[in-house]
Amino acid sequence: MERREVSFRIQRYNPQVDRAPFYDNFRIAVEKGITILRALNYIKEHLEPRLTFRSFCQAGICGSCAVRINGVSRLACTTQVWDLLTGGGDEPIRIEPLENLEVIRDLVVDIDPIMEKLKRNQSWVEPAIPEEELGRREHRVSDGEFETINAASDCILCGACYSECSMMGVNRDYISPPVLLKAFRMNNDTRDTLGCRRLREVTADNGLWDCAHCYKCMEHCTKKIPIMDGIHRLREEAFARGMTHTEGARHAQAFFDDIRHIGRLREVTLPLRTKGVLGSLGMVPLAVRMGLKGRRPPLLVKPIPDIERVQEICGRLEANREGEAAGAQHHLPLHPASRSGGVL
Ligand code: SF4
Ligand code: SF4
Ligand code: FES
Repeated sequence: MERREVSFRIQRYNPQVDRAPFYDNFRIAVEKGITILRALNYIKEHLEPRLTFRSFCQAGICGSCAVRINGVSRLACTTQVWDLLTGGGDEPIRIEPLENLEVIRDLVVDIDPIMEKLKRNQSWVEPAIPEEELGRREHRVSDGEFETINAASDCILCGACYSECSMMGVNRDYISPPVLLKAFRMNNDTRDTLGCRRLREVTADNGLWDCAHCYKCMEHCTKKIPIMDGIHRLREEAFARGMTHTEGARHAQAFFDDIRHIGRLREVTLPLRTKGVLGSLGMVPLAVRMGLKGRRPPLLVKPIPDIERVQEICGRLEANREGEAAGAQHHLPLHPASRSGGVL
């Protein structure tokens, strides 16, 4: 059995006694096939009993062991130490708590904010069957209906995407990727009756339309769930249900209209079309500061060469949408603008 000495650099922090986080180094002999979680267990059992971390299933199912390993949020129980060793180098493996959540102790973070957001956004199936008849009547879900939510149902709420999300890094009130994914999953469950109410909550401030389209959540999902597909579908659903009054929806629509008509953005009027006259007044100081730094978007924007080709693509997108609308049963029709725009 292959075996070698490996160094671990683990972040420690007890907010009740420590002024700031610090690192402890441990060096242990590791055999090939050992996971980060088993290495942590070894360190706790033999070297530092106060080292604190979460784990349960040890099989990538419960989602409790997510930490940052060499700067990337992953499950400790499915990450092989051997895969992190680079050549003959002796670089320590860095283990830190997830980002965007408060540390309770060492590698344990407080997941209450995720739970509160799930609750606020009604992340459960509200069945059409009256409560007194639950268990006596069944609501069958066909294979095809389940297929729509199959991947999203794999979420184990590990928090890795929450930790990696760019928007969470700048706004802790942001709804977050796992909550958006759950909203998609519940809104596409044929047994659920909360669709519109849930979507109203999800599209409120700090919600769906604030996603910056960076795709980091999807890139780092520990269960390889296509989270962005869910986010796009929720935006499409918002358009299909006529929820176009929010700033985010207006921004996406204005973005799409500009691209369709001239192939580029009319930046000067974008805030006006997104925020309205009163809302745009608040942006005047920013516009002045940008102007002083030489950032002056052109007042008149000409269409790009070959604009006809862009218009043809947009036309095809809209035709697709109409086709989907005609064939839609449970699914809501696509809206091309739902994939445009980012954070305001
Ligand atoms: S794509 Fe949106 S939800 Fe995903 S990490 Fe980026 S900002 Fe967060
Ligand atoms: S979406 Fe993926 S990364 Fe995010 S909480 Fe669920 S399983 Fe974890
Ligand atoms: S211990 Fe359950 S997912 Fe790692």
